[in-house]
Amino acid sequence: MQPSFWHEKWDAQQIGFHLDAVNPLLVKFWSQLGLNPTRKVLVPLCGKSLDMCFLAEQGHDVVGCELNELAVKQFYQENGLPLEVSQVGEHQKFSTEQVTIYQGDIFTLDALTLPNIEAFYDRAALIAWPEDMRIAYAKQLAKLIPANSVGLLIILDYPQAELNGPPFAVSDDWINANLSDDFEIECLASEDVLSDNPRFVKKQVSWLTESVYKLTRKV
Ligand SMILES: C[S@@+](CC[C@H](N)C(=O)[O-])C[C@H]1O[C@@H](n2cnc3c(N)ncnc32)[C@H](O)[C@@H]1O
Repeated sequence: MQPSFWHEKWDAQQIGFHLDAVNPLLVKFWSQLGLNPTRKVLVPLCGKSLDMCFLAEQGHDVVGCELNELAVKQFYQENGLPLEVSQVGEHQKFSTEQVTIYQGDIFTLDALTLPNIEAFYDRAALIAWPEDMRIAYAKQLAKLIPANSVGLLIILDYPQAELNGPPFAVSDDWINANLSDDFEIECLASEDVLSDNPRFVKKQVSWLTESVYKLTRKV
């Protein structure tokens, strides 16, 4: 999607993707990654997700990247977090004790700006990209995280012809075909979630599954 698409959504606060609670799949599966809380976690395309608060509560330092400035400001304001702002290259760096967010394009971030990342969490980031941008995003994610970093990836799959994304449908086959050069892939769970998603039910989408993967960046 073009940046203007997301800026318009944030300006109009049409942010149906945002959850008012921590994602239950994160709560359920994060501990299965077996990560030491000293590991710093990258959250690409973070929005103002409360999942960053959950990760910080587990002891992790969290580094997000988000295009839209209002989203970033709302994250800190709504969670009552004091804020420092500085400029790092093309990005504004917003930080509080455990959560830093680079506001700007993920494609212009570089690994040198993100020292000591050892884990990542992708919810509604990979599936935010249409097919023609998805591989480029996955390659950029792989560039930003060092070998042996472990992450949780949550995706949705459904018959793409029955609904316009985002979120875009991503299949298990796509994951295995396109991520296996850079990641070890383990599917932790896959569930039918159609009845929990009124937008999909209303559009008469015939099926909808949500899957959770553990990804490990290959050496
Ligand atoms: C579907 S939302 C998901 C947000 C968050 N992960 C969540 O679970 O609520 C995708 C987010 O990615 C941001 N975004 C889109 N393109 C981006 C880019 N090139 N770089 C950084 N963030 C981007 C959008 O502004 C939007 O907030």
